[in-house]
Amino acid sequence: RTGNPKSKISPLRRFHDDAGIHQSSGSRFRHANRVPPKGSTEKKTEITRQNDKFEAKFKRDEAGEEHQARSPRYCFRKSPQIGPESSGLCLIFGKLLFPKGRHVDAIDPAADTSRCNHSPSDLTLQNCRMSRKILVTAALPYANGHIHIGHLVEYIQTDIWVRFQKLRGHHCVFVCADATHGTAIMIRARREGRSEEAVIAAMRAAHMRDFAGFQIQFDNYGSTNSPDNREACHEIWAAIRDAGLVKIRSVEQLFDPVAGTFLADRFVRGTCPKCGAADQPGDNCSVCGAAYTPADLRDPRSILSNAIPELRSADHLFIELEQLRPFLEDWSQNGGHLQPEVARYLKGNFLGDPLRDWDVSRPAPYFGFEIPDHPANYWYVWFDAPIGYIASTREYCRQHGQHAADWWGPDSTAEIHHFIGKDITYFHTLFWPGMLHTAGFSLPSRIQIHGFLTVNGEKMSKSLGTFIKAETYL
Ligand code: MSP
Ligand code: ZN
Repeated sequence: RTGNPKSKISPLRRFHDDAGIHQSSGSRFRHANRVPPKGSTEKKTEITRQNDKFEAKFKRDEAGEEHQARSPRYCFRKSPQIGPESSGLCLIFGKLLFPKGRHVDAIDPAADTSRCNHSPSDLTLQNCRMSRKILVTAALPYANGHIHIGHLVEYIQTDIWVRFQKLRGHHCVFVCADATHGTAIMIRARREGRSEEAVIAAMRAAHMRDFAGFQIQFDNYGSTNSPDNREACHEIWAAIRDAGLVKIRSVEQLFDPVAGTFLADRFVRGTCPKCGAADQPGDNCSVCGAAYTPADLRDPRSILSNAIPELRSADHLFIELEQLRPFLEDWSQNGGHLQPEVARYLKGNFLGDPLRDWDVSRPAPYFGFEIPDHPANYWYVWFDAPIGYIASTREYCRQHGQHAADWWGPDSTAEIHHFIGKDITYFHTLFWPGMLHTAGFSLPSRIQIHGFLTVNGEKMSKSLGTFIKAETYL
């Protein structure tokens, strides 16, 4: 915090760089608004710039609106409220048209002036600084548990980044929602003798209270169990089906005859087939580490009813991801959408072998949206959860007189930034871009992936019971 600001990269700037925000060569000045050390003669506000001398003055545009010009080459609108219509306009004179969402720096010789009235040498152009349109999401928290401080690692950093972009004058919108579907919610509702809708409504209120307690400010907080989301799921599904990516295959799964439901891996426990340790989960042994499927367990039991599960088969719908390989290889490896280590990880792991078909349906009973062309089958929670990003944006747009297509449409030049934890990487870096690409939506500019807040070296998690609730912390 102390020391010469000229020789130190500020934490904000470092975060900015780490976050991969492209800063063009023109934006080289830093604005440090900090309290000087006691007794210092330093000015409270210090603005450093490599070449130009700082000049603060206001200019008035034709509409009489004031803009602060901080240097001969940069201007910022005095008011940070930038409406959708001003995207692509010069912030000082409000009339230069740039391609929407492109950050154009006038003194950058590579500045795109193709739709601007000015030649790059024009002085007026040099006063022009583009406002970016930035859509930001944080992962949609499950509605089957409370927000804990592990989650907050994500929501707080995303909120900071959003505030920063808003302060810079960009048109930045932060949307999120509750992820409401899946077996866990259904089971909880049954156990509590309530409807799923009642369970998710109560949890929504709790989530929103916790986020407010930490001053996390979403521009819209939706739900994946919304009409907007259902509609968007239908649209995207139709496109995926029309592209010939869907196939039906029979899947054998353990079924609980007492609870009347198929059992996800974590709802089955039994004896490890390898080392014989008792009461192990359905996917891997906590004693010897062996990985297996629940059907391999000896003496399996359903944790819902303690019944002995039966092996039953049902038709599931799969998306053939391998057909999207050329697109996925290109998108994941080029264009800087991913941190380099994530791109390498995908290349070496998932993309190194033929991509496995993705099972996107679950037979009844399941709490989710029924698949229109396959009655009694529901979209798996991970199919409709990311579509919730689009649904929440649509809700936001309806409330603010904007068009969702300006954010998600094929011609949108808005940036889309998803902040997520590393556990949900492949959903966001393979399945999700594949869905968007197939359905003709705009693709994410950047997936920003963070690590975990840990307890004794392990992820703080609800399922491990190692969490401190946001509410408790407050
Ligand atoms: N519902 C899915 C996300 C769907 S996004 C289309 C989900 N929900 S979650 O509630 O389990 O997690 C929400 C976010 O919090 C995820 O990005 C997850 O990585 C993050 N975190 C959960 N526990 C965490 C820590 N202990 N530390 C850091 N982030 C953590 O996944
Ligand atoms: Zn074992």
